[in-house]
Amino acid sequence: MPDITVPSAQSDLTGRALFPHRHLLSIADLKPWEIRFLLDEAEHWAKSNRGGARKHDDRLAGMTQINAFFENSTRTLLSFEIAGKRLGADVVNMAAATSSVKKGETLIDTAMTLNAMAADVIVIRHASSGAVALIADKVDCPVLNAGDGWHQHPTQALLDALTIRRRKGGFEGLVVAICGDVLHSRVARSNMLCLAALGAQVRAVAPPTLMPPEVEMLGATPYSRMDEGLDGADVVMMLRLQNERMDGAFIPSPREYHMLYGLTPERLAIAKPDALVMHPGPMNRGVEIASVVADHPDRSAITEQVEMGVAIRMACLDVLTRGARGVEGWA
Ligand code: CP
Repeated sequence: MPDITVPSAQSDLTGRALFPHRHLLSIADLKPWEIRFLLDEAEHWAKSNRGGARKHDDRLAGMTQINAFFENSTRTLLSFEIAGKRLGADVVNMAAATSSVKKGETLIDTAMTLNAMAADVIVIRHASSGAVALIADKVDCPVLNAGDGWHQHPTQALLDALTIRRRKGGFEGLVVAICGDVLHSRVARSNMLCLAALGAQVRAVAPPTLMPPEVEMLGATPYSRMDEGLDGADVVMMLRLQNERMDGAFIPSPREYHMLYGLTPERLAIAKPDALVMHPGPMNRGVEIASVVADHPDRSAITEQVEMGVAIRMACLDVLTRGARGVEGWA
């Protein structure tokens, strides 16, 4: 029987009831008030980080956080490491390239090995959709999905939502255009679910070859032309063209893709005059986004997204370890 209990207000909920999850694997698992709760928690850390605090408190002292990244990362890996350290955790990074994965160790055996080391929280990125959930099933501690294949990147969607809320004040009625290589993008899938749940009107804008069939199920309306998808948008979120995930020719050439789908100043002018420009990074400058747009001092929120990544990851690490730390109401 599905859970149809809807609290009259978030304030009706306390402790574990606010976030009744052991792991953070997918935005699809979260109810709107659970997302809002994580954003509110992160807002506290965002203010504290911006205020210059580098060491906040030691609430995760004595806990071991393992970051197991089987795929490359700059922003996500470093921000999880900084987040854990700011909360006092002992943070250990496992790089797949120098691990026994290279000797053929299976994912399950790797998970059992991490578990045997008594980690208190594990952060995982993996190239295969579903791999993080598989590991979560085998370990005794909370697992956070730092990106699995094309499937989900929940903390990216949360940091994007926090950035939008800080810049735009809320989500109700906000038009968000998510543009580019939607097909290969876990960022797009998590963002469509997250922003639609929060009340935004979400558009997925992509060439037909890069538009997955499920966008409407994820809460977005598909558009194949940039001029239609950007018309009146409050937020324009550009996606990286993920060449490493393409087995064939999805686009004629990067130059032609830029001409038809790149975010240039002329194309940005189709959106609202104060439309916010976002990109999860890393960017292909001159392909999906022109440098003059990416670096615009007022319109671009790209560096703020990175900043909010630390705050969101502090909130997620804190909330998911409250049960193990015996925080009242969270057992
Ligand atoms: N946005 C993002 O996931 O970036 P990284 O691949 O650098 O972690």
